[in-house]
Amino acid sequence: MKKKFTINKMPARLDFLQSLTGIILALFITGHIMFESTILVSNDAMYAMTQFFEGYYFFGERHPWIISVLASSILFIIIVHAILALRKFPSSYRQYKVMKEHTVRMNHHDTSLWVIQVVTGFAMFFLASVHLYIMIAQPEMIGPYASSDRMVSEMMWPLYLMLLFAVVIHAGVGIYRLILKWGLFEADQQKFMKQRRALLRTIMYFVVTLYLAVGVASLMRYIDIGTTHDYGDGERYHPQSEVEQGAEK
Ligand code: HEM
Repeated sequence: MKKKFTINKMPARLDFLQSLTGIILALFITGHIMFESTILVSNDAMYAMTQFFEGYYFFGERHPWIISVLASSILFIIIVHAILALRKFPSSYRQYKVMKEHTVRMNHHDTSLWVIQVVTGFAMFFLASVHLYIMIAQPEMIGPYASSDRMVSEMMWPLYLMLLFAVVIHAGVGIYRLILKWGLFEADQQKFMKQRRALLRTIMYFVVTLYLAVGVASLMRYIDIGTTHDYGDGERYHPQSEVEQGAEK
């Protein structure tokens, strides 16, 4: 009797799920950096963005729990993404040594990028958990003054700085590797492959630098507000228009 061959589709499915969760997280981070950078425009712009995520423009009142739900969903996606990635981590010291020797001997860009991804991914596991826990537990404490005060009084800025570098580099390298993996940037001829990869790497470095520049500038603005504004009485930020409306009533 002929032996029937069955192909195990599970590894491919898990790989696909890892790519999908990675893309969702990369899109989220792109949005996050943009929303966060509204503080560079003005306090009012960041205030309006916070109100938007609290559903104010849909329900006519603020519902900070929406931010808790959003942050919990992101945390869930990160956990799934990380569990799937763990399959590929070197699981013993011997495997780690082989990988390290391979990286040094080959001096191969893409292998080094994979190592960077493992290291930033590992760091993010701790750094992102702290940040997300705060967002889930205290969603009402977001705004130009409250966020800035957290950076300074609660000494969160070093954690944010490390998280910023880890997440932007991790996402940049991740998307670059994903594009190569799914063959989305391939040349017809083998001889052009190297040039294509080099071009893709240049684009990736450019985008990573841009995100880091915007992220660091926003962080500096929050620190500036946190150090110059006296938040001792805990009074929340309100735009001038709201203050005037309140005085008329
Ligand atoms: C729904 C989930 C999230 C919400 C609501 C959120 C919200 C915020 C807010 C309001 C700040 C300003 C500082 C503060 O108030 O403490 C901030 C900063 C920051 N967040 Fe998130 N965040 C979320 C998820 C994430 C994730 C998943 C990451 C990365 C893995 C991340 C990375 C950062 C970084 C790096 C900063 C520093 C800001 C900068 O440098 O521009 N956040 N986030």
